[in-house]
Amino acid sequence: MIRDTIVRVGVVGAGTWARAAHLPGYRRDPRCRVVAVCDIEIDRARDTARAFDVPTATADAADIFRRDDIDLVDVCTPSHTHFDLAWRALEAGKHVLCEKPVCHDYRDIRRAHELAESKNLKTKVGLTFRYAPAVMYMQALIADGFVGEPYIFNGFEQNYQWIDPETPRRSSTWRTCSSARTSRRSSGPCATSSPSAWCARPTA
Ligand SMILES: NC(=O)c1ccc[n+]([C@@H]2O[C@H](COP(=O)([O-])OP(=O)(O)OC[C@H]3O[C@@H](n4cnc5c(N)ncnc54)[C@H](O)[C@@H]3O)[C@@H](O)[C@H]2O)c1
Repeated sequence: MIRDTIVRVGVVGAGTWARAAHLPGYRRDPRCRVVAVCDIEIDRARDTARAFDVPTATADAADIFRRDDIDLVDVCTPSHTHFDLAWRALEAGKHVLCEKPVCHDYRDIRRAHELAESKNLKTKVGLTFRYAPAVMYMQALIADGFVGEPYIFNGFEQNYQWIDPETPRRSSTWRTCSSARTSRRSSGPCATSSPSAWCARPTA
């Protein structure tokens, strides 16, 4: 069970996404505290620990897995390393948040799911839009049976997460796209990889 008090987090991978999204998120949330950061590039681990006021930096994920004072391991490394790290974290009895994709074979996901269940551990994949209102609405339509049994989903997304909520429709024209890109640069990276594709999509 996750404790009722503060969730103690070990972040594995201190690259772009950990520093731009995960660590700032933890810092904003009083329900958790990052107690260790790991990166095989030890200088990056140390710099990140300093920047986010994390007490421990290490280059070896095993240091995180073996600690008793870590409840949750956040796997934020390159994709090909996700499954091994997530699996080892589960084996060590940690709850796991893993960046997408966890692996490339759904049977591995099933194995990991079974391992987590057998140890009463929680798991989650870092899907950026899980809690976006449009995605939650779509999920509700499916759950209510409104669309019947879905076989395929086609959608367009506009990634607003780094745009100022005071002016959320700034990206509806080329000119405003341009200023949105400026805002994106100053705030952090956007999950949509191509700025031109980003701008070409209609505002919802
Ligand atoms: N959910 C989203 O919207 C979203 C957005 C961006 C990135 N991602 C995912 O996040 C992950 C990380 O992306 P990124 O852009 O930060 O990559 P990155 O290359 O900037 O950072 C990865 C870091 O992990 C470190 N690393 C590699 N192997 C390691 C290991 N075994 N143990 C500890 N550290 C290790 C690297 O040294 C590097 O610093 C990727 O899987 C990517 O797909 C998800």
